[in-house]
Amino acid sequence: MSASSKLRYGMVGGGEGAFIGAVHRMAAALDGDYVLACGAFSGDAARSRRSAEALGVDPARAYAGLDAMLAAEAALPQDQRMQALAIVTPNHLHAPMAIAALDAGFHVFSEKPMALNLTEARAIEAAVGRSGKLYGLAFTYSGYPLIEEVRVRVARSDFGRVRLVQVEYSQGWLSLPIDRDGNKQAEWRTDPARAGLGGCLGDIGTHAFQLAEHVSGLTVAELSADLTAHVPGRRLDDDVSALLRFAGGARGVLKASQVAAGDENGLRLRIHGERGGLDWSQMEPNTLTLRWLDRPTEIIRAGGPGLDALTTARLRTPAGHPEGYIEAFANLYRSFGRAVRAGATAPPPTGAPDWFPGITDGVRTMTFVEAMIENNAGSAKWTPL
Ligand SMILES: NC(=O)c1ccc[n+]([C@@H]2O[C@H](COP(=O)([O-])OP(=O)(O)OC[C@H]3O[C@@H](n4cnc5c(N)ncnc54)[C@H](O)[C@@H]3O)[C@@H](O)[C@H]2O)c1
Repeated sequence: MSASSKLRYGMVGGGEGAFIGAVHRMAAALDGDYVLACGAFSGDAARSRRSAEALGVDPARAYAGLDAMLAAEAALPQDQRMQALAIVTPNHLHAPMAIAALDAGFHVFSEKPMALNLTEARAIEAAVGRSGKLYGLAFTYSGYPLIEEVRVRVARSDFGRVRLVQVEYSQGWLSLPIDRDGNKQAEWRTDPARAGLGGCLGDIGTHAFQLAEHVSGLTVAELSADLTAHVPGRRLDDDVSALLRFAGGARGVLKASQVAAGDENGLRLRIHGERGGLDWSQMEPNTLTLRWLDRPTEIIRAGGPGLDALTTARLRTPAGHPEGYIEAFANLYRSFGRAVRAGATAPPPTGAPDWFPGITDGVRTMTFVEAMIENNAGSAKWTPL
């Protein structure tokens, strides 16, 4: 792709010392179809400038804040200005920043959770509607090739009618009160004003929920929740469980924890139908295990035989050369970029080659968060969503 035809994106957040902004930059760079044109990399002007310099971004396009960036970029000639904004700040800034960028005429690729609550999520949805701009959401795990394979196999009823959906996201990094000891990422994640209604719930419970509905093709009709803050004094949950009842009768269990001491990014998905089931773990993302009632267990490998064309389209290396988190992220960026170039105003439908998560997934996950909070606080056994 020639330099001039690359998609020019800007970034808000992701300055020195930040975590996910760097992952976005690697993901956007992987296929060579984006260029980082500008950024407000920090709320602090000097840090933003230093970050721009380190990233090779034109100092004239390192901004002190998003408002300045939107105004200055909108004033540039069309063939120079930013086309899409990547939002990689803490959660409380997602909604105001997404709405400001959409209203100023820029496409948005945002970090999850989409917003602090459902009201904000609906406000973003309205901004997408009135702007006609594209909105993508970084539900990273849905970009893994074998997650697409899972979705395809469930959709074509390989296992029969789905009965059980079990999803677990187990981390241990918040097991001690590091949020009070200066850990930057932990500090805002445990502050309701900056994290939102849920702690672990919003941070990784939303990933688990989005994945469960996306790959099963089923919709959760009602849930029963149990939220806990194990670390004394912590103001938001750090451990979450839910029983899920899907429309059509399937049952599910969702478990997300950030106090499972020693666990890393233990995201695991199991789905069972009448004839068999599947087992996929994010920490072994290139292996999918299928178990059957009437035949031996099958191991499906990324890059190996038997994969659907939708899966192979998401692979970049031959079997045995590990692909992982960055590549899954890059799949979302590649699809988002293609949609921008095609002039789309929404992601392609699930099952289309370049599907990526957007508004629908965002609003749905915020509905889940609110239902979890409501059920946990109240006395009803089940809460609909
Ligand atoms: N999709 C995923 O797999 C994934 C993984 C990790 C984090 N996340 C999400 O990414 C977001 C950021 O998380 P993180 O761990 O990188 O946080 P972080 O604290 O490491 O980084 C946040 C960045 O935002 C910047 N920032 C804060 N206020 C700003 C402002 N007003 N203007 C410009 N920049 C500002 C900070 O300076 C910092 O650079 C969160 O919403 C989180 O939920 C997603």
